[in-house]
Amino acid sequence: MCGIVAYVGHREACPIIIKGLKRLEYRGYDSAGIALMNGDLNVYKKKGKVADLEAFISDKDVHGNIGMGHTRWATHGEPNDVNAHPHYSSSRNIAIIHNGIIENYAALKTLLISKGHTFQSETDSEVFINLIEDIRINNNCTLVEAVRLALHEVVGAYAIVVLSKDDPNQLVAARKGSPLVLGIGKGEYFLASDATPIIEYTNEVVYLKDYELAVIKDGELDIRSKEDIKQTPYIQHLELTLDSIEKGGYEHFMLKEIFEQPRSIMDSMRGRMIVESNHLMMGGIREFENKFANAERILIVACGTSWHAGLVAEYLIEDFARIPVEVEYASEFRYRNPIVRERDIVIAISQSGETADTLAAIELAKSKGATIFGICNVVGSSIARATDAGAYTHAGPEIGVASTKAFTAQVTVLTLISMIIGSKRGTLETSKLHQLMAELENIPAKVEQALALDEQIKRIAAQYQDATNFIYLGRGYNYPVALEGALKLKEISYIHAEGYPAAEMKHGPIALIDEQMPVVVIATKDSSYEKIVSNIQEVRARKGKVIAVVTEGDTTIPTMADHVIEVPETSEHLAPLLSVIPLQLLSYHIAVMRGCNVDQPRNLAKSVTVE
Ligand code: M6R
Repeated sequence: MCGIVAYVGHREACPIIIKGLKRLEYRGYDSAGIALMNGDLNVYKKKGKVADLEAFISDKDVHGNIGMGHTRWATHGEPNDVNAHPHYSSSRNIAIIHNGIIENYAALKTLLISKGHTFQSETDSEVFINLIEDIRINNNCTLVEAVRLALHEVVGAYAIVVLSKDDPNQLVAARKGSPLVLGIGKGEYFLASDATPIIEYTNEVVYLKDYELAVIKDGELDIRSKEDIKQTPYIQHLELTLDSIEKGGYEHFMLKEIFEQPRSIMDSMRGRMIVESNHLMMGGIREFENKFANAERILIVACGTSWHAGLVAEYLIEDFARIPVEVEYASEFRYRNPIVRERDIVIAISQSGETADTLAAIELAKSKGATIFGICNVVGSSIARATDAGAYTHAGPEIGVASTKAFTAQVTVLTLISMIIGSKRGTLETSKLHQLMAELENIPAKVEQALALDEQIKRIAAQYQDATNFIYLGRGYNYPVALEGALKLKEISYIHAEGYPAAEMKHGPIALIDEQMPVVVIATKDSSYEKIVSNIQEVRARKGKVIAVVTEGDTTIPTMADHVIEVPETSEHLAPLLSVIPLQLLSYHIAVMRGCNVDQPRNLAKSVTVE
């Protein structure tokens, strides 16, 4: 849930670390800190954003070629200067940055206090560094050995980097459960929670594996297992470009990512279908096609927006492939005693590929013998590596905390998968498949058309920026879109919003409707169109304000809605890819008008690596 960066090499470490922390700020932004080795081991840290840290260190001596930094999302202890990372050990000889949670920190802390260690903060990370110090003193061993032994004592998740005054040219890093990427430059090394701080300097990276320990000393890299066995690093060449991780002239990452969707949807289907020959191919699914086709049931586990994409997939798979599908919140699934059978296929969906609950749900399903298929956006992420097979979404880096292009990319990939299984099982007719493929190919251009509604949506947003509540309604394929629209609005504008299947309204939520209540109805032309028209009437009868997303050319709904947003016509199976666009823009503009930080909304972080 936090972001970490470290550097050792021939350049000044501080500017590299500060820039890297800014790129990782989406992971947490309540405090930030940096440790630099320049004669002494100096730590500077501050509550607030990386910019606050930058201002704080502007008059300090921050020279040095080795250092590490951290941007925090609080778990143990409120956001303040003391709880910010890095943390020194009691002697101040060593310091740590940590992303993750040490579950047995309370017991370890009690033990360490009894041995004379003192603590400044409330964090589990300070316990970790004191444990390392304690082991080092008691065993009279090297720092590397002490870190290795400490890994056997801690329970939980971590990506850590440790610096020591006694070894001023050495960085020690380790991971379990939290991501850590190592960049290999010319005579220099980088460590970071993801590749974005590294890519400006090198494309050669190593994704550290769980329980691996990396030691960089005097320009040499040594990777060892927890059992001290030397490991051969698998060096990957990343295709990520600098352009793709910068704002590119947009005011916010979220807006840039919304506008990237024609391209990201295209990239997610690129090379995966040839419409003319009715040919679908997806490398990740090829050897599992039979398993998918013979699955008794498909379980989908995910969180947040990815869970909404899972709901769309439930409709698609059941429609095209006639296999029963259940969509589960990973956080619930992992803690109940779910029935999972060997012939079940579990699809785990995650943009970041690091969501702790989704990872735990995967482990649980694996232990019960199911085949796990992952749909992730971040290449090399923990979920991508924990699954038996999978498909990447190719949306490119998503930096805004509110997920936008990841959703449409996930729905695109899930649509392709549903069509592949449906055609393999013979439940999706060839002519219908052909129609769908042709229509899917048109979607990026139609998304472009929907994006052109931006100014109109901004005007609508201006009228509702002071609303305190919102309701979102949809039916069929547009029901998950209603949920997604409500989530987008609440997470970035802090307006209370609820998404419902439109027909459920009369079972309770209708009581909320009065002249103050904006109701966003996604009412594109589909098999339940007539029904949703009746739902709009029900809202109107109670004086609710109707903002309707309709299909271009609709003449009925404009006579009854306060505002009408027209999206291009498409097949109802693909409707979510278009109808979600105005909802993303609506929430974006409302949030900006309310003065909210849309890219870094309060209390949230991009990847939720805690349970
Ligand atoms: O990285 P993941 O897709 O696993 O993340 C899941 C959720 O945390 C994420 O979708 C979250 O709900 C977003 N903030 C929604 O915009």
